[in-house]
Amino acid sequence: MALSVLFFLLLAAVATTVNATDHIVGANKGWNPGINYTLWANNQTFYVGDYISFRYQKSQYNVFLVNQTGYDNCTIDDAFGNWISGKDFIMLNKTQRYYFICGTGGCMNGMKVSVVVHPLPSPPMSAVAAEHPSEKSAASVAVRGFGLLLAMSFAFFG
Ligand SMILES: *[C@@H]1O[C@H](CO)[C@@H](O)[C@H](O)[C@H]1NC(C)=O
Ligand SMILES: *[C@@H]1O[C@H](CO)[C@@H](O)[C@H](O)[C@H]1NC(C)=O
Ligand SMILES: *[C@@H]1O[C@H](CO)[C@@H](O)[C@H](O)[C@H]1NC(C)=O
Ligand SMILES: *[C@@H]1O[C@H](CO)[C@@H](O)[C@H](O)[C@H]1NC(C)=O
Ligand SMILES: *[C@@H]1O[C@H](CO)[C@@H](O)[C@H](O)[C@H]1NC(C)=O
Repeated sequence: MALSVLFFLLLAAVATTVNATDHIVGANKGWNPGINYTLWANNQTFYVGDYISFRYQKSQYNVFLVNQTGYDNCTIDDAFGNWISGKDFIMLNKTQRYYFICGTGGCMNGMKVSVVVHPLPSPPMSAVAAEHPSEKSAASVAVRGFGLLLAMSFAFFG
């Protein structure tokens, strides 16, 4: 039972490395004041090509891409970009730390989020899965790719 659950989770992990993930800021709470987005960001892993998306009332809030100074001080003077649609999908193009803040004052009430973008996991595995996207080949890739991880999990739990 536990084994099949673990295996399913590993398969799901392989499947998600093939497609870009959309990370919805604040999940069902969205982009609003009074939420600790550091806690939200710490609970996600961001890869190059993933999206971060902001959902909010566009009459009240917005999104600015700033550097660390802008993030620390809630200033948008030197912003690199801004979004105002109320449902903004932003691709994370580079392996770097990104800083997003609200430019209408919400930043002072916690509307700031910083995310670290990681390189894609090992190319050979994703490449094979992408070329043969059937469940069968994905499974065999998973078995080979995560055999070691499985063994380690057993060592840990056993
Ligand atoms: C948010 O949570 C982090 C991690 O627990 C903590 O370090 C930080 O002080 C919190 N921020 C606020 C504004 O409460
Ligand atoms: C972390 O993510 C898990 C799985 O997506 C979710 O169930 C949990 O509520 C999240 N925790 C926080 C603090 O966001
Ligand atoms: C952010 O950008 C401003 C303006 O270019 C610059 O003065 C500041 O040093 C930058 N901060 C960081 C942490 O790079
Ligand atoms: C911005 O915040 C930094 C600390 O992160 C501080 O050293 C700096 O003086 C602040 N700059 C402004 C213009 O407030
Ligand atoms: C990533 O690149 C796309 C296409 O050039 C651009 O629209 C988007 O704003 C970029 N993302 C960031 C965070 O700059």
